Formats: sequence, C-alpha cells, structure tokens
Amino acid sequence: MRGDRKPARGRGAEGVRDRLRGGIGVLDFGGQYAHLICRRVRSLGVYAELLPHDISAVELESRGVAGVILSGGPASAYSKGAPTADPRIFDGAVPVLGICYGYQLLVTAKGGEVRKASRREYGRSTIRILERKGLFEGLHESKLECWMSHTDSPVVLPPSLKPVASSVNSPFAAARSADGRVIGVQFHPEVTHTEEGQAMIANFVLRTCNAAKNWDLGGFVKRTEASLSSLHGRVLCAVSGGVDSSVTAALLHRAVGGRLKCAFIDTGLLRAGEAGNVKEFLGRGLGIDVSFLDASDAFLRALKGVTDSETKRRIVGRKFADVFEEFARRNGPFEWLAQGTLYPDVIESGRSGGPAAVIKTHHNVGGLPDDLSMKVVEPVSDLYKDEVREVGRLLGLPERVLRRHPFPGPGLAVRVIGEVTEDKLRVARESSTIVEDVVDGAGLHDEVWQAFAFVGDDKVTGVLGDERRLGYQVTVKVVQSTDAMTADWARLDPRVLDSISTRITNEVEGVVGVAYSISSKPPATIEPQ
Ligand code: XMP
Repeated sequence: MRGDRKPARGRGAEGVRDRLRGGIGVLDFGGQYAHLICRRVRSLGVYAELLPHDISAVELESRGVAGVILSGGPASAYSKGAPTADPRIFDGAVPVLGICYGYQLLVTAKGGEVRKASRREYGRSTIRILERKGLFEGLHESKLECWMSHTDSPVVLPPSLKPVASSVNSPFAAARSADGRVIGVQFHPEVTHTEEGQAMIANFVLRTCNAAKNWDLGGFVKRTEASLSSLHGRVLCAVSGGVDSSVTAALLHRAVGGRLKCAFIDTGLLRAGEAGNVKEFLGRGLGIDVSFLDASDAFLRALKGVTDSETKRRIVGRKFADVFEEFARRNGPFEWLAQGTLYPDVIESGRSGGPAAVIKTHHNVGGLPDDLSMKVVEPVSDLYKDEVREVGRLLGLPERVLRRHPFPGPGLAVRVIGEVTEDKLRVARESSTIVEDVVDGAGLHDEVWQAFAFVGDDKVTGVLGDERRLGYQVTVKVVQSTDAMTADWARLDPRVLDSISTRITNEVEGVVGVAYSISSKPPATIEPQ
C-alpha cells in the first residue's frame, strides 16, 4: 500500500512489488502504442506493467518478470543520447521481444546496424513469414498485413540474430536468437491492423515466457477489497457521476463500509443532471453515504479572467483540493482522500518515470498541493478504462453508468475556450447534452469514444426571421478511439449531423452556428484545451 507520505499518492492498493511476479514488464521508450502492448498482454490474463526504459536487469529480476517487451519509440537507435536499456536485458535471461524501436535497439546493442530506411514504411505493409515457429507458431497465413510506423530499419543483423520474416522494403522484418528467447519485429503486433498480431503476442507471452495467467478482474476486486479494508480511519471520496469515481466509491464501500463518506462537489463545470444521477445510483442504489455541495460560484470566481488552458486546469485542481479540505475539516477527521485516477493518467502525467510527455495536466493527478492534509488512495490506478468498467459490472453498477463516455477532470472549463463564463458554460453543457442524446438515439453511443460540444468567444452572424443577429458558434466533436492515446473523428451520417445542428440552434439560446470537428489525434487532442 502506498500512502505513507503526505500527500501520499497510492498507486492502487495491492502489494506493489510482487504484482509483476510471473508477468510481463513493458519498457517504455515513449512509443504511442506502449499502453496498447500492456492491454493486449492483460487481455490474455497476464499482468503487464509499463516500466521506465532504464530500469536495471537486477530490478527486473527481483520483481520476477517472466518476460520483457521493449516498446516502440520516436528516437533513432543510432543517435547520440537515444534512450536505451540495461544491456544485460538483451542477453535473454528472461525472454525479450523488441517492437520497432525496441527491435532496433536490440540490433545495435548486439553489434548489428540500423539506418534510416531508404523508403519510409508507414501504415500497412505485407510481411512474409520465413518459419512458422516461435512468435509465428500456429498462424494461419504466411503472408500477413502488418502495421508499420518507422523511418529506421536494421540493415545488418548481428551474428546472434537470424531473420524470420521479411517485407518488401526489408529482409529483416523480424529476427530471433538461436534459442528463440530474443526476438525483434519491425511492425506493431499490438495494433489491430496487424493480422494475427494478438496471436503473436500470445505466442510470446504464453509459450516463450510461460507467463502466469493470474490477472483477472474478479481477483483484482477481492485483493483490492482486502487491502483497502486495512486502511485505518475514515475515507473521503470525491464522486462526479463518472465511471472512475463511481467504481472507486463502490470498491471502497465494500471494503470500509460506513467509514466511507462520498462528496459530490458541484463545480458548475459538470455535465447536466449529474447530482440527480449520483443520488440515484450511488445513494439509493448502493446505499453509499453521499453529501452534496454546491461550490459552483467559488469555481466561477476563481476562473474569472483566466484564458490559458493549463492555468484553468491548475485552478480547478487547486480549488477542488481546497473545497475538499474545507469539507473534510467540517465533516472529518478523514485520513484518506480517494480518487478514481486511471493507469494512463498516471503515465501521461509523468508519474511513472517513463518518458511519456506531460501532455496535459490531469487535475486529479497533477493538481493536488503537496501540503494536503489527507493521504491519497487511488484503488483503480493500475487499470485501464475498459477494466474499470468490468470491475463496475462485478460490483453491480448499472450499465448506463458504466457505458458513459469519459469526461475530463477539469470538466467544461476545458470545453469553453477563453474565459469561463456562466453563459458559455450553459451553451457547452446544453449543446453537449443534445450531441450525446442524438448520438445515443442513433444507436452510436458504444461506437464512439466521446461525443460533445465546445464553445469559444467568436460570434458568427445568423438570421432570425428578418433580423440579423450575432450568436455563438458551437463546435461538435465526436471521436472514435480505443484508448484515447490516438483518436479519429467519427464519419457520422449527415442526417445525424443535421439533427445535432438543428436541435442545437433551435434549443440552445444564443447559438446560431454549428461546426463539426474533423481533426484526429494527433495532431489535435480530444479535448479542445
Ligand atoms: P486529450 O484531450 O488529452 O484527452 O486527448 C484524452 C482523454 O482524457 C480525457 N481528459 C482528461 N481526463 N482529467 C481527466 O480525468 C483531465 O484533465 C483530462 N483531460 C483530458 C479526455 O476527455 C479524453 O478522454
């Protein structure tokens, strides 16, 4: 259990060091698909964790990993200062699979050569498998479409590796050591566009590494409950109506019962109807003690005149902590503050020690002051979103709560461009409700990652009857994604778009224009700020 410092940030509630025993360590070289590798391994029932790329071989050994996967990354293995790994890892004492950059690193470390490819391979590419064993055992085809994303490739293999797959542009699309314990691939088996990619990962994890199949969410619930029940003192849990905080509260309720107090703070930045939802499914449904607090004026005052998005995030985070401390003082004492922080939040905020950039300050991780008087416990901070939903199902939360789209911690403050005003908040909130409603009504709720609207200060000209008048232009954003690391705009049927636009301009006072965002991530992020 973490949580012995103040504020202690409890990454989950299980025994931290032992969790990886028999599992897979994924060394993070900053590649966009590093999380995906972990998720693919976990979906095999094997625990996987993202680790800093410079972790020592001794540390990995002491944590008892059954195998190591080296992720992709943006650097070039031959550049000065490129991130590398402890060279002893490449010896194959535990099996190693290098993916893309990870493979190129293996090649250079073992005496081979990597160079900028004469033709950049990006997107789909066909590989030809030269032997159907090891990574490729039991695959149906010997020619596979694979996803490539690199500008470098091995041009000379070290003596210890032999090629086991080729592509049009490279004779060394995959290679392995004589005993098959060190393997490298130029393509990304973790990406769904790679045919039979999951079978390759299963071959490595289950056959080559013989990893322990002990990661199941029922077990997670039991272990987490047991370890949370040893928390001393009362626990205060912030609930917002979203999936993560609801599951966190439900887990804690099972573990500490009446010692849990939930607080719903109306920041004025939430989606419509949240207080009522929380009353219904956490209060009446699960019998959890929830207090409701309207702090919307205080948040609005704190945000007055602020236009910079990172500043807004920090202000919301700070205010949140302040309001909680005040609540805790009046209703306390509380020893613990519980948060529904997820695993990707921990990584994206740079707390993992990996090279992932701090892209945005996620308020539930970055914004807490160091002098917080409560220790922080984050029971689901080792889980991905889909895993949290599954845990929620096991805990009996209603499906309509679990199906909800993600909503950012700083709420509508980042969906209002420029200064946050009551009027713009109303426009963003009401328009978003319509977008969600129409998308749901068209049966598309589960097909998309998020569906919402945002608004800025720009006014456009409209006509109402014979009268010209200036009004807000709302931007609608509907994106598809598997993990929020990348996202694409949803190709909605024009009739759905038409219905969204008509309803917004008819029903939301002051809006005369509706635009649809057709940017993917990257280069855009999902939230507009
Ligand atoms: P971006 O905008 O970075 O968002 O592409 C990726 C996913 O994270 C959500 N998001 C947040 N979640 N606190 C959160 O808890 C935040 O500050 C925050 N910012 C973005 C976003 O809604 C998307 O699902």
